[in-house]
Amino acid sequence: MTDLIFAGNWKMHHGPTAARALIDAFLSSYEPYDDREVWFFPPAVSLTEVTRAIRGQTGLRSGAQNVYWEEKGAFTGESSVSMVRDAGAHVALVGHSERRHVFGETDTQTAKKVAAVLEGGLRPVLCVGELLEEREAGHTEAVVLRQLAAALAGVTGNSWGRIVVAYEPVWAIGTGKHATPADAAAVHHTIRDWCAQQGAPSRMPILYGGSVKPANVEELVAEEEIDGVLVGGASIDVESWRAITKVGLD
Ligand code: PGA
Repeated sequence: MTDLIFAGNWKMHHGPTAARALIDAFLSSYEPYDDREVWFFPPAVSLTEVTRAIRGQTGLRSGAQNVYWEEKGAFTGESSVSMVRDAGAHVALVGHSERRHVFGETDTQTAKKVAAVLEGGLRPVLCVGELLEEREAGHTEAVVLRQLAAALAGVTGNSWGRIVVAYEPVWAIGTGKHATPADAAAVHHTIRDWCAQQGAPSRMPILYGGSVKPANVEELVAEEEIDGVLVGGASIDVESWRAITKVGLD
């Protein structure tokens, strides 16, 4: 069985001091379980602190919310893959909907980031998902497949084994409205089929994201197609994050 992945995207919350406090509180009742991993995506300034705090703990990983594809140079405000790896990241989000829709990131830029993350030895978590009007127009699959095809065009051979995809319908992010488990599973199935045709392992992890919380996580991860969750708002509070990451253990 594939491990369940619980990924917490803190977005622009928790500088180093608050990050340390959250991790310490989380660790006070953390026990590793064979069937799951917990990944933390703090803001870049808190990455080193989170990495230090989880060092030596089985089942925990830190990751970057964003990277730039160049190695170094005059790119004010950006972090390269080697820099976030040096700060302890094992994984990096790429193409999050806020990167696409708030910061105007294109499919082409997303593809460059996926390539840089793979080249730098990290695992990309490629985020894809449709807008509400695209869903209502019946274009969900077409949008998701376009985003996948663009971002993963350069992926070959063994690199497929390091890809993680997160399906995050844009209308569900931060809105309190989540996709039904069946709707999410149907899109996951489409993603899995397409990626397998390109060379991905059939058990490539596909996470669902968008208003995941303690009250709905159980029904989501009960779906065979859903290999874990990418959580924003409910990951920045230690109680809800603990409840989410312990789903099914009682
Ligand atoms: P949300 O965010 O859980 O607050 O909806 C999810 C995400 O943006 O990854």
